[in-house]
Amino acid sequence: MKKKDLLTLFEYSAEDIGGILDLAAKLKDGRGVRELKVLEGKTGVLIFEKPSLRTRVSFETAIHELGGHAVNLPQESVGMGKRESVEDVARNLERIVHLIVARTFAHDTLTRLASSCSIPVINALTDLAHPCQALAFGQTLREARPGERLNIAFVGDGNNVCGSIMVLCAKLGHRFTHAGPKGYEPRADLVNRCKEICAASGGDISLTANPDEAVKTADAVYTDVWASMGQEAETEKRKKDFGAYQVNAELMAKAPGGAIVSHCLPAHRGEEITSEVLDSKACVAYTEAENRLHVQKAVIVHLFS
Ligand code: CP
Ligand code: NVA
Repeated sequence: MKKKDLLTLFEYSAEDIGGILDLAAKLKDGRGVRELKVLEGKTGVLIFEKPSLRTRVSFETAIHELGGHAVNLPQESVGMGKRESVEDVARNLERIVHLIVARTFAHDTLTRLASSCSIPVINALTDLAHPCQALAFGQTLREARPGERLNIAFVGDGNNVCGSIMVLCAKLGHRFTHAGPKGYEPRADLVNRCKEICAASGGDISLTANPDEAVKTADAVYTDVWASMGQEAETEKRKKDFGAYQVNAELMAKAPGGAIVSHCLPAHRGEEITSEVLDSKACVAYTEAENRLHVQKAVIVHLFS
């Protein structure tokens, strides 16, 4: 049987995603947990080229709760692509362990890892995609605003987290709107692929420079930092470029009553989101952070069954 990975979410069908979200809900409320020790006697390796709190802790916990053992490898100790090639790292790890969870800068590093080994590889965030975050948002949305064809407004940088949420929305038939300054839209090829998926799913993708326009029908408003990991040198420029795109009480007042707000975290309070909004009842970001654990366990079960 061909091994499965989780690289972008494009490779997952709506049924795959629905099944993962169903299982994540069961894992969260304790149903069917005991029999799911799919990693009994197995080891998962975590390779991170960038800092992490949620992803590292939730994966380590997920692997442990599924009966396996997790090995943490900071990039400086592996030297992936420096001490030895990405392909050689993969070819060695597949001989010893059973799962690779990798956070890399270049998405290409992740795909090279995945195509060079026979064991599952999970994307723990690349510059292109954060599928685990999108799945956790999917679970959180189901809990907080169940329903079909919801309106999701992403206000901010159209990079990794935004792109994966756009894919999730396209697959599940939601309407996704990105609001951001010119030059920070989600990548055009990804937008086009998502539009094609929407033609079958009933979803919709639109881009605007106007945040008020994006949130006015939103069931959920999402944001992410303006300067991602690796873009620290652009922080001051980005603060100026994104100045009109802060998710604050004034913007949320333009959304329909009952709209929820989320953020992948870490948040830069006072920049892309105010503390008032992040600490408000409408905010589900911390529930989404918890759901990383449940949804990633469900992904691992999906990959090993
Ligand atoms: N949201 C997220 O991936 O958090 P970390 O960077 O802390 O893992
Ligand atoms: N866009 C952010 C997400 C962090 C979880 C980054 O890449 O740093």
